[in-house]
Amino acid sequence: MEKLVITGPTQLKGEVHISGAKNAAVAILPATLLIDGICTIENIPNISDVKLSCEILEALGAKITWNTPNEITVDTRNITTTKAPLNLTSKFRASYYIIGAMLGRMGEIEVGMPGGCKLGARPIDQHIKGFEILGADVTVEKGKIYAKGKKLKGSNIYMDIVSVGATINVMLASVLAEGTTIIDNAAKEPHIVDVANFLNTMGADIRGAGTDVIKINGVKKLNGNATYSVVPDQIEAGTFMLAAVASKGDLLIKNCITKHLESITAKILEIGGNVEDYGDSIRVWCKKRPNKASIKTLPYPGFPTDLQPQMGVVLSMADGTSIINESIWESRFQYTEELNKMGAKITAQGKTAFFEGVPKLYGAPVYSSDLRAGAALIIAGIAANGVTEVYNLEHIDRGYENIEEKFRKIGAKIERIKE
Ligand code: EPU
Repeated sequence: MEKLVITGPTQLKGEVHISGAKNAAVAILPATLLIDGICTIENIPNISDVKLSCEILEALGAKITWNTPNEITVDTRNITTTKAPLNLTSKFRASYYIIGAMLGRMGEIEVGMPGGCKLGARPIDQHIKGFEILGADVTVEKGKIYAKGKKLKGSNIYMDIVSVGATINVMLASVLAEGTTIIDNAAKEPHIVDVANFLNTMGADIRGAGTDVIKINGVKKLNGNATYSVVPDQIEAGTFMLAAVASKGDLLIKNCITKHLESITAKILEIGGNVEDYGDSIRVWCKKRPNKASIKTLPYPGFPTDLQPQMGVVLSMADGTSIINESIWESRFQYTEELNKMGAKITAQGKTAFFEGVPKLYGAPVYSSDLRAGAALIIAGIAANGVTEVYNLEHIDRGYENIEEKFRKIGAKIERIKE
């Protein structure tokens, strides 16, 4: 078992380089299945969810070459099976993209029910509804999903819920369908635009990604023979922005798209932090105890649920009582119990949590319940007095590349220790 041992407090200072976006990469990799050719993907984050996506592609017959730690070439000319390995697909959430991509490519697929972080119920009814409207038959039984639809036909699909996964998955299934698909009430996250840009680079005809209506004109074939660079990770950038505030530090966060960070910037300014926006980098610093705030997580461009725990750490030390309303996931306050072990005073009731700000947190052994909870606990450990041990690192390694090295370079006293 591994743990991170953090000795605080440290005021983080210096420059940090943001990696490619996890949630774009784990969709772009399955999207390569739609290409009957070879493509190269740059700025791939070297994280365990990406490695898992690559293993699934390889099991389906794709050839993957790592050119550098952050660049791969994928050859999908020879897809040999329509059965994705159940042990791999049930390990993480984004394996559901294999369904949309393989319906498009092969007209058939069997996968395990997607796993991933335990954030409460994670239904996929909107994905299935979309596939069925396009003409596929979908059966879910005994932990497996079986989808078949040899000739998908473009259609109009209204999403009952704004869903990142369902929007991308239906987009994947309709790229090679006959005719035009319109996805209404689509999600607008930057990684949706990135997946559409990737597919368009390979020959797809997708318009309107980034708005709530996406139009996909089906094409006969995607050719590949192109190189694509994954968008910078908005959530990783936001994690370091909030780490700067929580540690009363001063960070220059490089290789990000600051337009994607507006909801975070606005909240940091509201609580008394400082932000300078340079377009592709952003400086964040904070010299005083932050003010209290009220936050509600919302789909993009609202405040992202994936930064809620990191913001929770900041508010746990703010002046006054803050409220966070989590509107996306039913069970994303598990980290508050861990912060309370560090001296925080947080009461979580269902989807709402009250943060009675304390002046200081104190080091303690804590357990990450999911990816973003893990990032939040690292930030708490850096800001806290004394030694914090963070356990369950497998969650953190799913989505953050070289996290302890990046924090160490900006001053944190953090070590990964094997027990
Ligand atoms: N929902 C349904 N039915 C569906 C799909 C979603 O009811 O068919 C509900 C969900 O239960 C949730 C809401 O709709 O309440 C939004 O879910 P969404 O589908 O947008 O989430 P997702 O695609 O499963 C992605 C990210 C999550 C991130 C959410 C919200 C990936 C692989 N995961 O999940 O990322 O929290 O969007 O932005 O892209 C993370 O990176 O830590 C993470 C959990």
